Amino acid sequence: MCGIVGYIGPKKAVPILIEGLSKLEYRGYDSAGVAIVNNGKIEIEKCKGRLSALEERLKSNPIDGSLGIGHTRWATHGEPSDVNSHPHSNKDFTISVVHNGIIENYLKLKEWLISLGYEFKTETDTEVVPHLIDYFYDGDIVKATMQAVSKIEGSYALGIVCSKEPDKLIAVRKDSPLIVGKGNGENFIASDIPAVLPYTRDVYLLDNREMAVLTKDNVEIYTIEGLKVNKEVFHVTWDAASAEKGGYEHFMIKEIHEQPKAIKDTMTSRLMPGVDEIKLDDIKLTKGDLENINKIYIVACGTAYHAGMVGKYVIERLAKVPVEVDVASEFRYRNPLINKNTLMIVISQSGETADTLAALRLGKENGARVIAVTNVVGSSVAREATDVLYTWAGPEIAVASTKAYVTQLIAMYIIALYLGRLNGNVSDEEFRLIRDEMLKLPEKAEHLLEQKETIQKFAAMHYVHKDMFYIGRGLDFAVALEGALKIKEISYIHAEAYAAGELKHGPIALIDKGVPVIALATQDELFEKMLSNIKEVVARGAHVISFAFEGNDDISKVSDAVVYLPKTLSILAPVLSVIPLQLLAYYTAVERGCDVDKPRNLAKSVTVE
Ligand code: F6R
Repeated sequence: MCGIVGYIGPKKAVPILIEGLSKLEYRGYDSAGVAIVNNGKIEIEKCKGRLSALEERLKSNPIDGSLGIGHTRWATHGEPSDVNSHPHSNKDFTISVVHNGIIENYLKLKEWLISLGYEFKTETDTEVVPHLIDYFYDGDIVKATMQAVSKIEGSYALGIVCSKEPDKLIAVRKDSPLIVGKGNGENFIASDIPAVLPYTRDVYLLDNREMAVLTKDNVEIYTIEGLKVNKEVFHVTWDAASAEKGGYEHFMIKEIHEQPKAIKDTMTSRLMPGVDEIKLDDIKLTKGDLENINKIYIVACGTAYHAGMVGKYVIERLAKVPVEVDVASEFRYRNPLINKNTLMIVISQSGETADTLAALRLGKENGARVIAVTNVVGSSVAREATDVLYTWAGPEIAVASTKAYVTQLIAMYIIALYLGRLNGNVSDEEFRLIRDEMLKLPEKAEHLLEQKETIQKFAAMHYVHKDMFYIGRGLDFAVALEGALKIKEISYIHAEAYAAGELKHGPIALIDKGVPVIALATQDELFEKMLSNIKEVVARGAHVISFAFEGNDDISKVSDAVVYLPKTLSILAPVLSVIPLQLLAYYTAVERGCDVDKPRNLAKSVTVE
């Protein structure tokens, strides 16, 4: 997620922007830059890499000026590079812009602007914004910005400066956060509160479709249609550390709450209401290519592997191509049968996991086509794969993966539908049904998060246990594995996940009085069979918490407690059912006093074998 900072006042802007950006480093970034209005022109310094690299450049090329915008970029459109770094500008460098979010209709706008003679230097979606403002500019930057944003679809937080109006700093937002810091004789904008806390605790929290016009002594707020808004000042009482977590106690719980947005962003521009096809910019696999594919391998590690298990099920079900799913560290040493008729899908949040990368290389060496599903633009797997599908979860900071996992699931559905449409195995009717249900998932995920107190109570009851069991059938088994991994890694409780039908082949011997069993029962055609499996463990004294769709009340007769999920298609259930399991792991770890965001012995990115 990008970070934005802006300053207008009597002081030198550069040090304030750099300090502000450093307070946003926790959001993750791959490049940084500033644009400063100085003596009637805009001067820009930007580069790929850490903020310290930008500071070095600014030491050798100092820029004066007390109006400026700064940015840390987390790449989505266009790889991390000096040229793709923000700020972006119009041709004569009189308008500069920093942006957080995704402009969905940028290709259309770009084509239109090119037809008018505008030239583009970058691969970013953002670059359309300064050109659009330039197109509308007739001496009033506020008006031109309003006209420009009326043409933009998608999400944006924008910071804008114009050298022809050096007394103004503009901020405008929709679906991406942006705040205004109100100082004394100076004012600030930022994508998050920590960036302004060294200077002021009085902020305006901009709402969607609002725009702030800052001078050094004043802040005016309007709707993007130009109506004046009277906004209350919000006085920040938190310390800087909790402000970074947006008021949440840990990054993990913050990231769990970011899932509805992450799901929505990952579907953005790929799956659209009323559009009967999947649009994928970075996957060039054609119908002809797919005809030559006779086997798919999905290869990944840990949580990403669990997303791959869901991928196997949905690709086989929808596209009807055989899929094997493998743990990367095993795959690379088991002499898998790979050739030019093989399609490999590697899944990696970081894009740098050593085993996954080695599996990808092995696949390519043997002639396979490789699709990378990753959250990091320009990461090693993204660079080395044939095609890429980015999950737009934003940076994940907690070691335990949550929002990256649900976006990996969305990526699996997108690929399955894409392949199924290409080879004709997904009919128009089936496509529309799944698409429409997928588009409702963010709202349903939001609804589930509202029930978090129920899960918190279960955690308070069960945190003392040494062992837990997670059971499910079909897709529920894949989610059970992920639920068990979450509780193991952050609360250090020994947890096992089993395919429910396997219990009686051995593991049921472990079930004893009071042992917590988490039973997932979201698969319609397997529901009755799950009830029988639940009864088997209840008969041995287990304490069962079940997870089922609303309306499946029979399950309450065989369970000690039930968490009901908003109804969706069984095939999409993993996106919802994993959320209460993440919450259960989180609250259990909190009850046990564990270091939730940095569990012992674990690292966020495993770049060694
Ligand atoms: C668990 C977790 C790990 C990662 C695994 C792969 O919460 O985060 O199991 O999923 O290390 O990492 P990536 O996806 O970066 O390849």
